[in-house]
Amino acid sequence: MGLISLAVVGVLVCHAAFGKMSDDEAMKNAAADSPCGNLTFVTRAQWKAKPPKSRVEMTVPVDYTVLHHTDTPQCHSLKECSEDMRKFQKLHMQVRGWDDIGYNLVIGGDERVYMGRGWDTVGAHSGSVYFNHHSQGIAIIGNYTSVLPSPGVLKVFHQLTECGVQLGYLTDRYVLRGHRDVRQLGPTSCPGDTLYAEIRRWPHYLEPKEDNFNKHSSIVCTGRAMPALMLLLSVVSIIFYAAFGKMSENGMNAAEDSPCRNLTFVTRAQWKAMPPKRRTEMSVPVDYTVLHHTGTRTPPCHSLEQCSEDMRRFQKLHMEVRGWDDIGYNFVIGSDKRVYIGRGWDTVGAHAGSVYYNHHSQGIAIIGNYSSVLPDQGTLRVFHQLMECGVQSGYLTDRYVLRGHRDVRQLGPTSCPGDTLYAEIRRWPHYLEPKEDNPSKL
Ligand SMILES: *[C@@H]1O[C@H](CO)[C@@H](O)[C@H](O)[C@H]1NC(C)=O
Ligand SMILES: *[C@@H]1O[C@H](CO)[C@@H](O)[C@H](O)[C@H]1NC(C)=O
Repeated sequence: MGLISLAVVGVLVCHAAFGKMSDDEAMKNAAADSPCGNLTFVTRAQWKAKPPKSRVEMTVPVDYTVLHHTDTPQCHSLKECSEDMRKFQKLHMQVRGWDDIGYNLVIGGDERVYMGRGWDTVGAHSGSVYFNHHSQGIAIIGNYTSVLPSPGVLKVFHQLTECGVQLGYLTDRYVLRGHRDVRQLGPTSCPGDTLYAEIRRWPHYLEPKEDNFNKHSSIVCTGRAMPALMLLLSVVSIIFYAAFGKMSENGMNAAEDSPCRNLTFVTRAQWKAMPPKRRTEMSVPVDYTVLHHTGTRTPPCHSLEQCSEDMRRFQKLHMEVRGWDDIGYNFVIGSDKRVYIGRGWDTVGAHAGSVYYNHHSQGIAIIGNYSSVLPDQGTLRVFHQLMECGVQSGYLTDRYVLRGHRDVRQLGPTSCPGDTLYAEIRRWPHYLEPKEDNPSKL
């Protein structure tokens, strides 16, 4: 009890003292007995960074750390490693067109930590929109295909992640992944075979299959069900290789300039979801989106607290009363303009009342009752952006067909998604009258 209150006070003091400072300053001033205190940070000014073109704030703490190697020679001094940082930044901004150097933080062979985008800016490192928004992207300078980083550098990595936990930028049960575990744009050898084999033995490492959030590793890493997609990805990746040299190593990033970047996702951890009983992977991209309303209280939720509470209620209803494995929907949109992650993009849902559509659609619900009113314009805009984000990230075909729940339900009639919203979506370009195509409904 005493220890806990001490820790709480410590965190509060830390917040009060360093809340308004830049990351760099906060780091330098962090208490000496914390893992942060043993780290030597190099500010952007010190390595002579160019200013970013723009930045997107990341919701912290995040649940993931994604580890990279830079696949370049090692550097051993402030001067050499700073020069490398400028080279990475130039490549990322000028060749790849990103807003800034892709990584959040970079560790040099000199055992210093170079500030990239920092702890609370969405990165461009993972080749996955989801992971760019939900991870700390940490690179170790060097090529770790056949050797490990030095013990000193590995120690810095561990202290850095502990420091991130302590400062509230990483959840304390964060999951560690290698770049190859998360990249959706084709295979990568990053973070190098030898380093990858090493991290798989570390306590925070979790096999990509063991949590819900990894959407693609079965495609990208094992290629088991999808040889054609693998081939396509390889060809694309070879073309990028030819055009941009190292591009396939560090990942072209869909988050930059994408509709996804304007969305605020709320993770299951954030809305305090119960774990699913089990999950069935969905083959993506799918051809359909099925829109729902939740038919619940008016006015609908307008804050993270209210909407999270609704999410927990839906999940409880779906799991305990209906006996499903998890909340039924893939995603849920609140009038707070946030996107709450339900089953996610690549898990078969339980929302359509049709086996076929559960397996071939993204089930999206808008919280509220839209029988006689429409969701507000901002909420509808979030829906459209989410659909574009799904297309861009490879979870929806670009000519996907939009349906209302009532169009697909086979278990009896439903008024969902509400008469007014239903009348509205029938005017949208992706909507297609149910008669105009004929997916086998079962
Ligand atoms: C920081 O460094 C000191 C001196 O080398 C060491 O005693 C201490 O254990 C280190 N702290 C952490 C958290 O690594
Ligand atoms: C990294 O190391 C491996 C094995 O030592 C080598 O084959 C590869 O060419 C190196 N990468 C680069 C970019 O030099």
